[in-house]
Amino acid sequence: MTQRKVKTSYPHPDTAAPSGDRPVALVTGASSGIGKALCLVLGRHGYEVAMIARGQAALENAAEEVEAAGGVPMVVPADVTNRNAHEAALDTILARTGRVDVAVAAAGLGYATPAESLDLERLQRMIDVNVTGFVNTIGLVLPHMVERDTGHIVGLSSLSGYRGLPGNGMYCGTKVFNRVFMQSLRMDLANTGVKTLCVCPGWVATPMTRGNKAKMQFVLDPDKLATKVYKAMVAGKSLLAVPHGLAEMTRFGLPMPDTLYDLFVGRRRMPFA
Ligand SMILES: NC(=O)c1ccc[n+]([C@@H]2O[C@H](COP(=O)([O-])OP(=O)(O)OC[C@H]3O[C@@H](n4cnc5c(N)ncnc54)[C@H](OP(=O)(O)O)[C@@H]3O)[C@@H](O)[C@H]2O)c1
Repeated sequence: MTQRKVKTSYPHPDTAAPSGDRPVALVTGASSGIGKALCLVLGRHGYEVAMIARGQAALENAAEEVEAAGGVPMVVPADVTNRNAHEAALDTILARTGRVDVAVAAAGLGYATPAESLDLERLQRMIDVNVTGFVNTIGLVLPHMVERDTGHIVGLSSLSGYRGLPGNGMYCGTKVFNRVFMQSLRMDLANTGVKTLCVCPGWVATPMTRGNKAKMQFVLDPDKLATKVYKAMVAGKSLLAVPHGLAEMTRFGLPMPDTLYDLFVGRRRMPFA
């Protein structure tokens, strides 16, 4: 779905002067995987990139790569689950840049939560980062964008956020939340200058999936995914579900009755499991 064309008040990244009035991006989960790959793409397109994650050393390493790619990184360590700390990080960013043009909520956790051995602590941790952290990032940045009537919110969901998968109940549940929350935001903001993009990838080769025992199919490269996200953002798309074939298969499974779906999916060993 393509959203209403709006005139952005921030300079277009491809035409921004190299050391001039750069557009500003805030990215969570910026030290690793998809978040880091997005920082690199945004940096390459001339953005000043405020990079948020907990681990300072990994953030600084990633920031060096962003700088080498031509971006202007800003390292802002924070735990997205802690609203006060996240708000303080945003205040630091706004004090320097005055605005955030693009906010990417990519911080996330993913691991198996099989029903036979549920561990409430592990379940809660995933809710804290994937749901509370996601909402903190968007909820803190959005008022500034709405006030300026311009901006772009990019939220990471997953193809796992369409229907339950065996052994992955909590991950799927949090990713459904991310996807559906982004859908509602899209509708709420349709008549404003703030755009939304929900990203639903299949498996991506990042530290999150590195230890998976089960075979992953159609695995995406994080840098290629980040380029697709950037293009989708510039094109004003509100949903990016990739890879295309797997996304189609996922959508095909949606109207299936449970008995049929369970037959295809229910006994499979899934990554994370
Ligand atoms: N990899 C996949 O196959 C895949 C597929 C579909 C969707 N996704 C989604 O894409 C997003 C990124 O995943 P990824 O694969 O890139 O993961 P990743 O490589 O494990 O990176 C996760 C990032 O999140 C940060 N993070 C974790 N907890 C945090 C917290 N409490 N506060 C701030 N930052 C935190 C981590 O840094 P610190 O630990 O230092 O904080 C790290 O920078 C997630 O939302 C994931 O669900 C991933």
